[in-house]
Amino acid sequence: MYTPQLELDDIQGDMLVGMQKNAELFLFFKITDARRFKMLMRQYVVGQVTNARTTVERERIIEARKQGRPRSTGPWLGLNLGFTCEGLKHLLGARRPKLDPAFERGAADPATVARLNDPPTGEWLHDFTSDRIDGVFLLAGPERDFVAIHESSLRRRLGAAVKVVYAETGMVRPGREKGHEHFGFTDNISQPGIRGLTRPSRPSTEPDQGLPGQALVWPGEFLLGYPAQNPKHPDRPGPVVPLPASWAKNGSYMVFRRFEQRVPEFRRFVTAQAARLGIYPELLAARVVGRWRSGAPLELMPLEDNRWLGANPMRNNDFSYAGDLFQRACPYAAHIRKANPRDDPPGGMAETRTHRIIRRSIPFGPEVQPGETVTRHRRGLFFVCYQASIERQFEFIQSRYSNSPDFVTGKKRPDTGAPVTPGFDPIIGQNREGGGRFMDEPAPNYPYGNRRTMLEIPEEFVVLTGAAYFFMPSIKALRNLVN
Ligand code: HEM
Repeated sequence: MYTPQLELDDIQGDMLVGMQKNAELFLFFKITDARRFKMLMRQYVVGQVTNARTTVERERIIEARKQGRPRSTGPWLGLNLGFTCEGLKHLLGARRPKLDPAFERGAADPATVARLNDPPTGEWLHDFTSDRIDGVFLLAGPERDFVAIHESSLRRRLGAAVKVVYAETGMVRPGREKGHEHFGFTDNISQPGIRGLTRPSRPSTEPDQGLPGQALVWPGEFLLGYPAQNPKHPDRPGPVVPLPASWAKNGSYMVFRRFEQRVPEFRRFVTAQAARLGIYPELLAARVVGRWRSGAPLELMPLEDNRWLGANPMRNNDFSYAGDLFQRACPYAAHIRKANPRDDPPGGMAETRTHRIIRRSIPFGPEVQPGETVTRHRRGLFFVCYQASIERQFEFIQSRYSNSPDFVTGKKRPDTGAPVTPGFDPIIGQNREGGGRFMDEPAPNYPYGNRRTMLEIPEEFVVLTGAAYFFMPSIKALRNLVN
């Protein structure tokens, strides 16, 4: 099998590797003077954009530090940017080529809202929807103040050529919670490997995996202009999807979703429902996510957490679902089983690998305060993902997997053979018009048993409060766009 050659100097740094960050500022802007914006971007910004070669190099330095070979460097700034469909119209005029259909529609379009069962835009954060969003800057760095200094310098340089519509900073959680999202689970464990970039950890036995269990996916799933997956074969390349315009090569689509998480309510719900089901709360929480807080997957640890396993990248993602025919270890509807069903659906791995995304999210907002038994402070997750087709990847996962109680299809009860309706993804699944949700089999029948249980979920613990779709151009394309 050949290895695709990625043009790392031309690809923005966040998608394939991820900008190194403890803090990340999202600055959403409207272009108020296109001519001036282009000039200032040429002068001050385009040369500062962090490319994938830099993020790869920074990862190597971090790895070397872990192995006791420190190299001194200054603090790293990561700067990336993308444009909405409105933004591209402003830069290129009405005769610009059309890109991905979902991108052209936009996240706030009524058709998108309906397709995803999102709350109406009138219920989103008012500031976020207060004006047209043409683009976003992503500024990442080691701490909040560092990012803020670079934000003010960027704002000063762009002056009145842009109006800032909304800006907010995400932070990794403090102390031992670092790496956990606000419900308390380790995040950012399972990401697709990229052919041409991710090195197989066991090349002689598993040449098609990066870390164990991390499938190598063809880069055309995330970047335009490269071979994508072959929908009939999990490892072979498919065709290179024709580019909508030659400058789109090395670009990617970014989905941004601002989720508020109702942490005290989630905790209370889990405690009460676990008591009703007669299981301990941590087990129910793990059944909802598909992993324990440590990151250990239910497929490998069905009844108790194992911190060592959770923290071990050679073990914590090395599993599939086909052997767990009757959801004894992990419910069909658990968040990670819905969002990446691996070998479970009828089309198997070949099918699911055409619906992968690269996630680059970061939490925002304060820790739950003492005595905060009802959410009083806004906190949650800036969800960010990259893909080559928003419809086939992010929107497919949200609407056809997480929101769809029938998915995964074709499952039967072990005792009666009756068909199973798995239910909604209890973390991100959304029912129409905010209707209640349910999940099958919250209490495990492991290793055997046929107790039938159901989790009714009348409220949502993850609430969408803003969303936008962006095209993240290559560095070359950025130069052309502002010429
Ligand atoms: C507040 C919202 C969310 C929370 C709290 C959350 C939490 C988590 C956690 C704890 C994991 C397990 C760690 C890991 O494997 O990296 C995970 C995995 C994942 N999530 Fe989410 N998530 C959220 C939103 C979303 C959304 C909107 C999507 C896409 C529609 C998504 C897709 C995924 C995928 C694809 C995985 C990896 C599954 C795998 O490969 O096994 N998540 N998420």
